[in-house]
Amino acid sequence: MLAKYFKPSLLKKIAARAGTPVYVYSAPVFLKQVRAYKKAFKTADPLFCYAMKANSSRGLCALAAREGWGADVVSGGELYRALRAGFKPERVIFSGVGKTPEELEYALKAGVLFVNAESFEEVRALEQAAARLGVRAPLSLRINPDVDPRTHKFISTGKSGSKFGVSFEEAQRIYMYAAESRHLKPVGAHFHIGSQVHSAGPYALAAGRLAAFILKLASRGVNLKYADVGGGWGVKEGGEMAAPAALARAVCGVFQGTGLKLILEPGRSVAAPAGVLLTRVLYRKSAGPKNYIVADAAMNDLVRPALYGAKHPVSLAGPGRGPMKTYDIVGPVCESGDFLAEGVRLREPAQGQLLLVYSAGAYGFSMSSQYNSRPRAAEVLITGPASWRLIRRRETYKDLVAAEQ
Ligand code: LLP
Repeated sequence: MLAKYFKPSLLKKIAARAGTPVYVYSAPVFLKQVRAYKKAFKTADPLFCYAMKANSSRGLCALAAREGWGADVVSGGELYRALRAGFKPERVIFSGVGKTPEELEYALKAGVLFVNAESFEEVRALEQAAARLGVRAPLSLRINPDVDPRTHKFISTGKSGSKFGVSFEEAQRIYMYAAESRHLKPVGAHFHIGSQVHSAGPYALAAGRLAAFILKLASRGVNLKYADVGGGWGVKEGGEMAAPAALARAVCGVFQGTGLKLILEPGRSVAAPAGVLLTRVLYRKSAGPKNYIVADAAMNDLVRPALYGAKHPVSLAGPGRGPMKTYDIVGPVCESGDFLAEGVRLREPAQGQLLLVYSAGAYGFSMSSQYNSRPRAAEVLITGPASWRLIRRRETYKDLVAAEQ
């Protein structure tokens, strides 16, 4: 389904010039998902804060910034990169379970829209940072709505007992405290129930609980401006984002007429379909019943299959040979867990042939590492039917040691 956006003829040129492995992103596909969100939520007119962690490359982020989106950042590093990519600070929100005092100060100095805090102690740290700077910190709390998003346990965050957020009871105590503080200004409330959430039901449930809570808070004199329902809308691997209309139906009605500004933090749903990981076949081999393709990309480039058992569809750029066979596609890293895909049906590729690993635009490069001292891959942005540019050069051996003393 995504193959039509990644033409083998263009990919061959890119690989010849930029080398492999290389992440290739399509600006038109990324923008298509961004605009689908805007259209689905048109009447509510929310602030979209792109979740930078999905893919923080400037070339891609700048596209979202130019569409008027803000950013959701979870570290000082992401904030730095968000500003550099052109996101306006007043459209940036700072989330994350353990922000340091230095990061909080940085966010306040930069003038972010608000900070999503996740514990009373963090709120105190924010208050102290604001006192040091002589300002009032715009505060939102991440609340754990105790909703099951029915996704992989590593990316499920909205059930009671998870490390994320605070309960409604605790949130109420913290808001009452913040309302009395000279250095805190409660402005919003937030939840993020998980990632790869494929049904709107859990959002409707969580949004209903959040709206009821915000109303109760107002009756106690604390009036919030923003309701932030996080990200997490799922994408079927190998496909485009499912129409976000269902998500819009689940949350917009809940906040209609409340005067609250709705905020969403999509990451994967906009970025995943927009990227492929392009890798070359190094070797073919058989071992017992298995056929292996050894590719030049590995788990350090794309860790999702090894970490979550994620299934990224793979195809050959150009035709293969002979009948279909079943392959495991593995990388050069010295671990049995190093695979890009298992049990893939393909015709036999030639040595040197290109493979496309789909749905790699999100949590691909951003989770990559230099494990096995492998320089990180290059990144390329396709901008038109035959045009593309390098948005991050391939790392060199010198980059591997650049920070060593
Ligand atoms: N907002 C917050 C507070 C988050 O923690 C996340 C993701 C998002 C928004 C964006 O969620 P998205 O729309 O991208 O699902 N590495 C995992 C995904 C981890 C997601 C963590 N939080 C993966 O590769 O599947």
